[in-house]
Amino acid sequence: MNHFEYRNGVLHAEDVPLTRIAEEVGTPAYVYSRATLTRHYTVFADAFAKAGLDATICYAVKANSNLAVIALLGRLGAGADVVSEGELRRALAAGIPPERIVFSGVGKTESELRFALETGIHEINVESESELHLLSKVASGLGQVAEIAIRINPDVDAKTHEKISTGKKENKFGIDIDKADAIYALAASLPGIKPVSVAVHIGSQLTDLEPYRQAFRRVADLVDRLRAAGHGIVRVDLGGGLGIPYDTEEPPLPDAYAAMAASEIARLNCPVMLEPGRMIVGNAGILLSRALVVKPGETKHFLVLDAAMNDLIRPALYNGHHGIRPVAEAAADAALQPVDVVGPICESGDTFAKGRMLPPIAEGDLVAFGSAGAYGAVMASTYNSRLLVPEVMVDGDRFDVVRARQTYDALIGMDSIPDWLHTDGSGETREPRRIGATG
Ligand code: LLP
Repeated sequence: MNHFEYRNGVLHAEDVPLTRIAEEVGTPAYVYSRATLTRHYTVFADAFAKAGLDATICYAVKANSNLAVIALLGRLGAGADVVSEGELRRALAAGIPPERIVFSGVGKTESELRFALETGIHEINVESESELHLLSKVASGLGQVAEIAIRINPDVDAKTHEKISTGKKENKFGIDIDKADAIYALAASLPGIKPVSVAVHIGSQLTDLEPYRQAFRRVADLVDRLRAAGHGIVRVDLGGGLGIPYDTEEPPLPDAYAAMAASEIARLNCPVMLEPGRMIVGNAGILLSRALVVKPGETKHFLVLDAAMNDLIRPALYNGHHGIRPVAEAAADAALQPVDVVGPICESGDTFAKGRMLPPIAEGDLVAFGSAGAYGAVMASTYNSRLLVPEVMVDGDRFDVVRARQTYDALIGMDSIPDWLHTDGSGETREPRRIGATG
């Protein structure tokens, strides 16, 4: 359920008409709904409480790392799952207490590990033997003992898009479950390391509980073995959240997920951590855009928007489906026609949807992409020197810009031209070198 609905013929975010945001903030713009974020977090957290698990919900910051989003979830009790020093800094800046932060990621640098230890975060999820040795060195150097989980790769097919599957042997993530016993023995023997947990994450946008069940069962069996071998495993990290309905998907409900997790894990009698991202923020955000050009073709009808693949890359990268709705509600009997919805970037991959059945949309009209709260703004780039778009959070009948639109000065000002390109010492501007010039 979300709070983007038509009222009096105009699409609203909660009580705010999207036309108002477009007027005041401009387009394209991401718009998030506080009530929806709150609801999604609460439903997820409550499901685990109802299932009798002592669960910490570590919001996966990668899905949407806007400080306002993290701060809102933090105030509801969420921790954070971070995968880089940048995300860790964001989580801290948004007020998430270090003891609720877990650091995942397949390639952490020495300085990232040092920063994490100095900050005193809850847990580091180690993903390789090399990382284990590096962490041991860094922690010992700081005179600390790092509480860790080993992220195991359970070799389970998550049955999701190949680019977002993480728990198969052929994926780069985690340590092969067959090697887990040996790795825990190694971890326990290293200075500055205390293995206290087992972590798993098999993929994103899962719409079936069965792969999770298999993974959790393997985790529980591993914990049994590790405890029997004398390791003090006091918690487990079960990984990401559920898939969301982008189109016709019907992902399982949080209650069913939590009940299944409890049936596999409760016997371990320990706290659990979860790292949902998409299911909390995905349908709590839209991307608001304006139609620039309507281009009727002989074979194709194109709608060129002011948003492009650099703003929302999921369709280009994963063939991701995002619902597209006109902000002005179409008449109930409006004829639908197939439209290719595209952005203005100079490549054909800049296509949001092909042959999408849409009511008439004219130049200047506003449209909203649904399910854009997760992996939308965070994956944006400035390709074609387009500005990063603003993010807005709505709360009832008020809204605030929670990230300003980038400025051209900020964008271009990051570059610099070396002195030796300005002059050749004589004060004259030097000609740029012509590669391949002959004379
Ligand atoms: N924890 C770990 C270790 C992860 O790798 C991920 C996602 C999550 C948690 C959060 O999973 P979620 O609850 O959001 O499913 N850019 C892609 C998604 C990549 C997800 C990668 N890992 C997309 O737009 O579909």
